[in-house]
Amino acid sequence: MLENHPKFKLFLHRLIIHPYASRPRLWARIFVIPFGIKRGKGSIIRRSARLDLIPSKKLVLGNRSIIEDYALLNNQMGDIIIGDNSYINTRGKIVGPVIIGNNVIMGGDSQITGLTHNYKDVTRPINQQGVTPTLTVIEDDVWIGGNSCIIQGIRIGTHSLIAAGSVVTKSVPPYTVVGGNPAKVIRRYDFDLKEWVKP
Ligand SMILES: CC(C)(COP(=O)(O)OP(=O)(O)OC[C@H]1O[C@@H](n2cnc3c(N)ncnc32)[C@H](O)[C@@H]1OP(=O)(O)O)[C@@H](O)C(=O)NCCC(=O)NCCS
Repeated sequence: MLENHPKFKLFLHRLIIHPYASRPRLWARIFVIPFGIKRGKGSIIRRSARLDLIPSKKLVLGNRSIIEDYALLNNQMGDIIIGDNSYINTRGKIVGPVIIGNNVIMGGDSQITGLTHNYKDVTRPINQQGVTPTLTVIEDDVWIGGNSCIIQGIRIGTHSLIAAGSVVTKSVPPYTVVGGNPAKVIRRYDFDLKEWVKP
């Protein structure tokens, strides 16, 4: 409905968020943002986690999932959906649109982003060119090592592992270990041999 009234939408947006900052205003952080989060049973969001959320987009946190201290979640360009028993460690950063499955471990200081800044027009500053959101998906049962970066539009297959400090620029198949910058396959599970093999 608000899509048909862009000026009113902008007015509401400005009420909640300062024109050139991504952090919601204090009153919105207290009285609006917490009530828009869909929380599963036993889920925990530590008090010092930073939630740069807007009410028109979703943050869904499944049962027993945890957002640790100093993590940053931003859903301003797309929903963030996190399944059950998933763990976002200290200083993890998630910028929507991002879907994270069940039983995912995200190591500290890692980043999963669902958007990129447009930069192609050389006559304008990059910060005036807007962003392009592209969904990033982390399937169930993935371990993301500390200090990793997963860029927009990536899918990480189930039971895969991102080695510490990796920059993941391409989707990762299920049952695969990748590492490095750009991340390459280190190991994959061979279902015939029933063991993890080098590529
Ligand atoms: C990937 C990891 C689990 C090791 O897995 P492994 O199957 O035992 O792999 P190995 O140690 O046998 O290494 C296999 C190859 O991957 C390389 N490798 C291992 N870790 C790597 C990394 N982080 N980045 C790049 N390459 C890596 C090794 O050098 C080795 O290369 P080689 O075949 O050329 O010798 C481990 O290195 C890692 O990154 N752990 C994450 C730790 C972490 O982030 N903890 C936070 C807690 S949430």
